[in-house]
Amino acid sequence: MRVRYFRPQDFEKVMEIESEAFEEHNPFIYMNFYEMNNEYFLVADYNGYVVGFVAGYQMSETEGRIFSLAVKQDYRGYGIGTRLLEAIMRVFRRKALRYANLEVRLSNVRAQSLYRKMDFIPCWIEHGYYSDGEDGIIMKKVLSPHIRTGVRRVLGKPAHQREWPALKIRNKI
Ligand SMILES: CC(C)(COP(=O)(O)OP(=O)(O)OC[C@H]1O[C@@H](n2cnc3c(N)ncnc32)[C@H](O)[C@@H]1OP(=O)(O)O)[C@@H](O)C(=O)NCCC(=O)NCCS
Repeated sequence: MRVRYFRPQDFEKVMEIESEAFEEHNPFIYMNFYEMNNEYFLVADYNGYVVGFVAGYQMSETEGRIFSLAVKQDYRGYGIGTRLLEAIMRVFRRKALRYANLEVRLSNVRAQSLYRKMDFIPCWIEHGYYSDGEDGIIMKKVLSPHIRTGVRRVLGKPAHQREWPALKIRNKI
């Protein structure tokens, strides 16, 4: 199984998985995703067969939003959802985004446990977020690539070669 960018010929398969997974459908949104945010539209490809997808977009200068994630029913529970989430998070990091967020139905315990496993934190409830009146939970994750990679790069060298970034000392507040 590999995760790759969505291609227009995947559209039918993605729509099939989408209508199996969600009650509200809007195929035009996904075409827009391809046209406007194609770098954040990924599919799970199992021997040339699309078995899942994730679609997101850049919400602000610092934040990426995961708009939709679904795996074909028979392929759930094999780590594909995790792989898709990890992949879109890598894309967010590459774009220097610092946070990822998403919204999930209060009743969708399965997706919530996946997000919690991936260090998403439930932040607040949007009452009546969905068209059937169900509440949505907004969850966020800090991506923080800069600190971790920066520290690893510095600590990986022998002590005498370490060049710590200069600290700016401010006298006035
Ligand atoms: C949510 C979804 C994308 C997860 O995809 P998946 O490929 O099954 O996920 P994974 O196999 O990577 O499982 C990851 C985690 O999900 C959770 N999970 C998986 N199956 C579960 C189940 N039957 N019950 C509860 N939690 C479950 C677990 O935390 C699991 O981690 P673990 O295997 O380390 O315990 C998939 O169930 C799906 O398409 N659901 C319908 C659409 C949907 O709800 N999308 C999310 C909208 S916000």
